[in-house]
Amino acid sequence: MNIGRENVAIVGAGRMGTSIAYTLAAAGHRVDLFDPIDAARDAVPERLAAIEAQLGEPVAVAVHDSLGRAVAEADVVIEAGPEDLAAKQAIFAELIRAAPVWALLATNTSAIPIARIAAGLPTSGRVLGTHFWNPPHLIPLVEVVEAETTEADAAERAIAFLRTAGLRPVHVKADIPGFIGNRLQHALKREAIAIVAAGHCDAEALDEVVRHGFGARLGVVGPLEQSDLGGLELTLAIHETLMPDLDRTPVAHPFLVEKVERGETGVSVGRGFRDWAPGEAEEVQERVTRELLRRRAAERTASNDGMGTATGVGNRKVRSDAQ
Ligand SMILES: NC(=O)c1ccc[n+]([C@@H]2O[C@H](COP(=O)([O-])OP(=O)(O)OC[C@H]3O[C@@H](n4cnc5c(N)ncnc54)[C@H](O)[C@@H]3O)[C@@H](O)[C@H]2O)c1
Repeated sequence: MNIGRENVAIVGAGRMGTSIAYTLAAAGHRVDLFDPIDAARDAVPERLAAIEAQLGEPVAVAVHDSLGRAVAEADVVIEAGPEDLAAKQAIFAELIRAAPVWALLATNTSAIPIARIAAGLPTSGRVLGTHFWNPPHLIPLVEVVEAETTEADAAERAIAFLRTAGLRPVHVKADIPGFIGNRLQHALKREAIAIVAAGHCDAEALDEVVRHGFGARLGVVGPLEQSDLGGLELTLAIHETLMPDLDRTPVAHPFLVEKVERGETGVSVGRGFRDWAPGEAEEVQERVTRELLRRRAAERTASNDGMGTATGVGNRKVRSDAQ
């Protein structure tokens, strides 16, 4: 079954919501975007224009001040409101009432368990996580997170839908804190902080090791692929030596806590793990955006013929079966 033009509603027109709206509209879906805050809605054209300037493709997105109107015809709803449990629970309570019974109801939460957001809803089989990475118009990964209450086919429908936009959905089969990406990212940060806190090197040296060492290949070969390539005997031998020595602090590392307590919170104050001169943060941000644009262009060229062939989410059988 070929995918059609799906009706997509995005709830929350902030940094993530606007970029998700752009990405799905650029893939040919009808996108309705809701935000209750006037200033957020007013900022949408400028945010979309900034993305258009990067990617060169104009899109049409309808902006709403009524949640009910935005989701009334939705096949897929993606919530990208504030990272606050009570706010998300209130939004989902309204979505259950206002969205069609077949609509997938997804949250872009960074860390709140999906089950907690869905708790108390009269029905939660269509509620799941779609964790996009910032910025969604440049980073293709979406973690599709299944809670215990998520119906079996909801994650599959979400994955099929996201593929139509050239995204790279990955099925996370349990509602675990940090899903997969943030668990990996913060496991690395825990060790990085411990190394710097112990004075084994400074923050600049640590970042050099990652950027110009194993990090240089991480976008091309994953850590488990890389272990297979090198042979698992080697990984085992390294783990037998290394594992007892790695940091196992079971809470936020005291070095990080002290930094925050001293007000050394990063670029906004000119000092975090390292010092920041005026203009340096913008240079780093430009470097990141340039690289992400380069990778996106390369990926699109390589996978052009594999896109747009996934199963539709709004087909009649799915609509009539889902509750
Ligand atoms: N920024 C990131 O890097 C990132 C990455 C992955 C996931 N997320 C998650 O995505 C979500 C949105 O993050 P963001 O960075 O876009 O935040 P943001 O603050 O830029 O946007 C949130 C938007 O929600 C709107 N809003 C406020 N109350 C609302 C309500 N009741 N209903 C609907 N919208 C409401 C706000 O006006 C704002 O426009 C959060 O759950 C966040 O944790 C963020």
